[in-house]
Amino acid sequence: MKREQWGTKYGFILAAMGSAIGLGNLVRYPSVVYENGAGAFLIPYFVALFTAGIPILFLEYSLGHKYRGAGPWVYQKLSKKWEWLGWWQSIVAFVILSYYMVILGWALSYTYYSFGAQWGEDTESFFFNDYLGVTEGVGVLGGIQWKVLIPVAILWALLFWVLHRGAKRGIEWASKFMIPILVAMIVLITIRGLTLEGAVKGLEAYFTPDFAALSKPEVWINAYGQVFFTLSVGFCTMITYASYLPKRSDLANSGFIVALSNCSFEFFAAIGIFSALGFLATQQGVEVGEVVAGTLGMSFVVFPQIINQFPGLNSLFGVMFFVSLLFAGFTSAVSLAEPGIAAIREKFGLSRKAAVNWLCGASALLSLLYVFKGGLYFLDIVDYFINNYGIVVSAILMVVLAGWVSKQVDSLQNHINDVSIVRIGAWWPIVIRFITPLSLAAMVLWNIYKEWM
Ligand code: PFF
Repeated sequence: MKREQWGTKYGFILAAMGSAIGLGNLVRYPSVVYENGAGAFLIPYFVALFTAGIPILFLEYSLGHKYRGAGPWVYQKLSKKWEWLGWWQSIVAFVILSYYMVILGWALSYTYYSFGAQWGEDTESFFFNDYLGVTEGVGVLGGIQWKVLIPVAILWALLFWVLHRGAKRGIEWASKFMIPILVAMIVLITIRGLTLEGAVKGLEAYFTPDFAALSKPEVWINAYGQVFFTLSVGFCTMITYASYLPKRSDLANSGFIVALSNCSFEFFAAIGIFSALGFLATQQGVEVGEVVAGTLGMSFVVFPQIINQFPGLNSLFGVMFFVSLLFAGFTSAVSLAEPGIAAIREKFGLSRKAAVNWLCGASALLSLLYVFKGGLYFLDIVDYFINNYGIVVSAILMVVLAGWVSKQVDSLQNHINDVSIVRIGAWWPIVIRFITPLSLAAMVLWNIYKEWM
């Protein structure tokens, strides 16, 4: 089977950016920052970025590009006994996909509700009771919620369509179209946010450091978890995307561009989001802390309140915000599906269409779980386990495999330097062998110690 290829170098960079920039940047980051020391969180965030995020990003690029395959194929090339790690990471991505699509479905509904702010004054009860159908007395699985099922089904249909078209005509095409529009919308939202009354109050909440947070292991785990999630590393996504690159491709340069643009996007978008939170707090005469909510509450309860209070053109602001979520999330959803699709194609010799149908069909069925009234209950549990155990442990295993079991880091470094103009130095194998596994392991042990001793 001839391997698919991206159309252009920029096509790959845009697809990788599309994967990295997602709900993690717009929705997860602001609430994680606020709950983990605000301004002080930038310290563990940067530590995590340089000791693990960027080094593992390069590792994934070099693995996919050198061995030209999806996760299971690449890992069994490193060591016969490790194919399962590729399957495990692709399965984690597949599970995330099932609820990621549901959240995108909510964003689609909320794009529609933005016209005339149809959620009314009590946005919390609108979201939970009217929209999700979680009313008292409804059991865990209280029947299908059509208002959620329909937008989710529409998005699944679109995802099938894009993935059937393949890497170049589907994934690359969608990213080329969505990412520039997304960036433009976020710039507008941020500028408008900064000019709102009370914006400064929000920025203070974003940047004022709570240094005491740094002595808590969970703050560090959250920083590593956020960095992995936002860069899309540890799920075989970047392995798979890099495997579609032509033989001569500047891996090092692309890696720096993707990491830098993703993290600066996250950082700047949060300026807009916190400004808007400062505005809401000022309108309500409360502290910013009282309007900050968890990841989902922030988008679907707090943002609608901001839109209600917005001075002029509020429907437009609402539509821009929710369409940003949709565009950011859609290109990431595509990349959550691709590692599994490529893996089953390679293993079972399936056509792209068949592999897409199997993988997305199963994931779509799984997403029905969260469409039932009360399905939110499962979403929280799955998200908790994936983020607290799935990602960090899988990252430790990857670097141990590359650095110690197969001892391939040096040859991977040579591979990157052979094909790239920008060279990566001797620091990289050292980080992969020692710094990444030791820092991740120390953090996990510290957390276990604090929790259980
Ligand atoms: N990076 C995406 C985000 O920030 O929302 C999420 C993601 C996409 C994680 C693809 C993992 C992945 F393989």
